[in-house]
Amino acid sequence: MASITVRNLDAPVKDRLRQLAARNGVSMEEQLRMMIRDGVATDPLSGGVEPAGLGRSAQGPAENASGVSMAGSASLAGRRILLIIGGGIAAYKSLDLIRRLRERGAAVRCVMTAAAQEFVTPLSVGALSADHVFTDLFDRQAEHDIGHIRLSREADLIVVAPATADLMAKLANGLANDLASTVLLATDKQVVLAPAMNPRMWSHKATRRNLATLRGDGIVFVGPNAGEMAESGEAGAGRMAEPLEIVAAVETLLDRAPKPLAGRRIIVTSGPTHEPIDPVRYIANRSSGKQGHAIAAALARLGADVRLVSGPVSIADPAGVNTVHVERAEEMRDAVEELLPADAAIFVAAVADWRTSASAQQKIKKQADSGPPSLQMVENPDILAGIGHHRQRPYLVVGFAAETQNLLANAQAKLARKGADFIVANDVSPEGGVMGGDRNRVRIVSKAGVEEWPEMSKDAVAAKLADLVAERLKSVEV
Ligand code: CTP
Repeated sequence: MASITVRNLDAPVKDRLRQLAARNGVSMEEQLRMMIRDGVATDPLSGGVEPAGLGRSAQGPAENASGVSMAGSASLAGRRILLIIGGGIAAYKSLDLIRRLRERGAAVRCVMTAAAQEFVTPLSVGALSADHVFTDLFDRQAEHDIGHIRLSREADLIVVAPATADLMAKLANGLANDLASTVLLATDKQVVLAPAMNPRMWSHKATRRNLATLRGDGIVFVGPNAGEMAESGEAGAGRMAEPLEIVAAVETLLDRAPKPLAGRRIIVTSGPTHEPIDPVRYIANRSSGKQGHAIAAALARLGADVRLVSGPVSIADPAGVNTVHVERAEEMRDAVEELLPADAAIFVAAVADWRTSASAQQKIKKQADSGPPSLQMVENPDILAGIGHHRQRPYLVVGFAAETQNLLANAQAKLARKGADFIVANDVSPEGGVMGGDRNRVRIVSKAGVEEWPEMSKDAVAAKLADLVAERLKSVEV
């Protein structure tokens, strides 16, 4: 059977595919598959009947293959979201967010701050949400019809996007001097903030204080992401999360699916570690954190209290997951140990095996007479092995084996050496594209034998592994 590889497509087609994939938040391969499925579904020869299992949601619009929108499912059918739009350039992304939420079946009602209306108009917001847009605390008609208390109580969840530094400060301090802040203070529902602001405002001590307070109050944060700022050309953390990331957080929080891992604490490590050589250089590896983060998200979807210890990655923290950020292997080990006791621990991180014996205090300079410096390396702690033989060993310990040769033999040796219950073995040879890519093909190695899983997306591997963990923990008392 013939196969299509994205690599072999013409450059303009590839570019268009990349744009569509980015807009749908899927890989290029997945976008291609969706388009082929669409083509088959709308082929006149097939009578326009969608093949079984490929149908889309009856809710919300489904655009054609060359279009953008793929309402994956009616995952938010019947849910009521109150979206508070703050004043910032990222407000334009909220328009797309409304559309994405509605595609999934949610009813979206919007509140706009005065500043938000400087960036997008209530007219566009109302057109997309198909509802009245609330802007004024003292609007007698709106107060008479709905009232700010009902506005906040009638929603299943409140999303603030973009959440400005000002809105965060108000909420952290309980101020209520406009409709948005009053609604936020009056609500008894889960609140999700998608901050967007200049990187200096985000890193300002006052904002850090407010962030800590709000987290302590149970507010969930999505983003901000790092990148170029639209208005100033500056770069850093402060970009609003993409609409699909916010949708994913909303879906997780409102998920009605069974929660077999409710009450379980699970530690996950993810990403690479960076081992400093001097203040500006470090040793790293190509791990993107995609697989570890996807596993953390999948466990959270099953109700687990997930504690993710992440090395430096450029992807967002998974929604609904408590994430600790570390740089070095020793920091990762300390963070993991601090999180014990736990029911399970899954070690996905590509931990650097070695660090320099001492990182130079100052930048190492080139020396004309003595040639390149030699680095003295020492071994890093093996975090998985430490936990696998720990006195507070979690009931279930899972490791990964990233190999470029002798996959099974190496994985089996790691199983015994590290005291793991399973080793998820994957071939990370460069030609497989696993490191940094979106797909993975793994084998589950345990004392019972080897189970081969077919190639699938990293999200699908994560979901299957989360099911396996749930199955294993089923008989263990909480
Ligand atoms: N691991 C860890 N701490 C380390 C090294 C690895 O926790 N210092 C964990 C990884 O998260 C993974 C497993 O151990 O779950 C195997 O990692 P891998 O890099 O494949 O193996 P290593 O033990 O580093 O052995 P080698 O590099 O020789 O293959």
